[in-house]
Amino acid sequence: MPGIVVVGAQWGDEGKGKVTDLLAERVDAVARFQGGNNAGHTIVRNGEEWKFHLIPSGILYPGKRCIIGNGVVIDPRVLIAELDALRARRIDVGGLRISANAHLIMPYHLLLDSAGEAKLGSLQIGTTRRGIGPCYADKAARLGIRVQDLLDEKILKKKIVAAMEPKRLSLRPFERDPALDLHTMTEEYLTHGHRLEQHIADTSKLMWEMLDEGKKIIFEGAQGAMLDIDHGTYPFVTSSNPLSGAACVGTGVGPKCIDEIWGVAKAYTTRVGAGPFPSELHDHLGEEIRKRGGEFGTTTGRPRRIGWLDLVALRYAARLNTLTALVVTKLDVLSGLDKIGVCTSYSGEEEAAFEDFPYHQTVLHHTSAKLTELRGWKQDLRECRTLSDLPDGAREYLDFIAEHVGADIALVGVGPQREQTIWTDAGRRTLIASDGAGG
Ligand code: IMP
Repeated sequence: MPGIVVVGAQWGDEGKGKVTDLLAERVDAVARFQGGNNAGHTIVRNGEEWKFHLIPSGILYPGKRCIIGNGVVIDPRVLIAELDALRARRIDVGGLRISANAHLIMPYHLLLDSAGEAKLGSLQIGTTRRGIGPCYADKAARLGIRVQDLLDEKILKKKIVAAMEPKRLSLRPFERDPALDLHTMTEEYLTHGHRLEQHIADTSKLMWEMLDEGKKIIFEGAQGAMLDIDHGTYPFVTSSNPLSGAACVGTGVGPKCIDEIWGVAKAYTTRVGAGPFPSELHDHLGEEIRKRGGEFGTTTGRPRRIGWLDLVALRYAARLNTLTALVVTKLDVLSGLDKIGVCTSYSGEEEAAFEDFPYHQTVLHHTSAKLTELRGWKQDLRECRTLSDLPDGAREYLDFIAEHVGADIALVGVGPQREQTIWTDAGRRTLIASDGAGG
């Protein structure tokens, strides 16, 4: 198993960070392939908390390669701050490599993200306002500034001028913003270049060489399938592809290098930002789950919207990603409920029923969740370490999910700590196969 992809199977915030962290121990490298510092995850290790936005969490393991692939958009200020914070806690960051082809978030991208949202008024997407969308837009328009441009003052300046020219009108309200001064911006980004130079590399070649030597790499997705720009709830999506297929394009390796694709889903559903959410809970129960699950954004601090587990969306995510296994996180949060709702189909206008995720936006916006009620359980799950430790209700819930999604469950999360994890036989089988495959 040279390559294992870990992706979000819902609307992001599924707990991919913890899963990556658990697997990272057994691999040689962890690579990010899309998104930027709109992502964020928290890892708890030995009681210590670590927050990451750009750097793969594998950095906490000495000697691991951590790669930021070409598909990621990088705000260099955030990356440098993250590096400094790690160094201050005595973490060796020497293993980080950044693709020279990755695109950079520029000061005007941040301003345009906020201005774009303000202009949309009630139609706002609810972006993280980190400049992600405008940066990917520039990439597609061939007006992007790439990491490699930081190493050449003349080119950097030329490209900034070319990128800002078509934005003159939209940037007019920010004319006096010192961050947009050409000289200041160029100087600032050249300084970032000096700081990052030691980490800049041809990461596609580096990964190819590692895979060729039989080394193992985790491809760590950000956000989740339902936020995918092509297949998600467009336009209420992010600007990249958080699907497994993007792991290859976003790092520069071919699909044959991928052996396993794990989709991570919470035992319930959350979403931040606007957009359709058929299984959303608008009552006190939603409030209760938000509190118990600590469902506030790592990046923006926004309260997350809460809903029952949506199996229509999860089946869709499993198909889009060709999941080989499912990880269910935060099962402990549902303890104590008498009944647990699961969305198994959608109902639409004129009594239309949908087993599959509707492709038409208008149809989706008018659907509501059809719920199946399962019995809950009272027991606190945080000390459970095997499936047989779980109460019947929790085991039935997991079986119901696996059957309806058509994928084995490899791991179950019962708390934020590393050890608050249940490895199933399917999960162990993958690990054994992977240990045999690698170097
Ligand atoms: P953007 O990625 O900042 O452009 O935001 C677009 C949409 O994706 C908004 O609804 C955000 O709330 C959502 N989004 C972006 N990153 C994440 C994430 O890491 N977790 C959950 N939602 C996210």
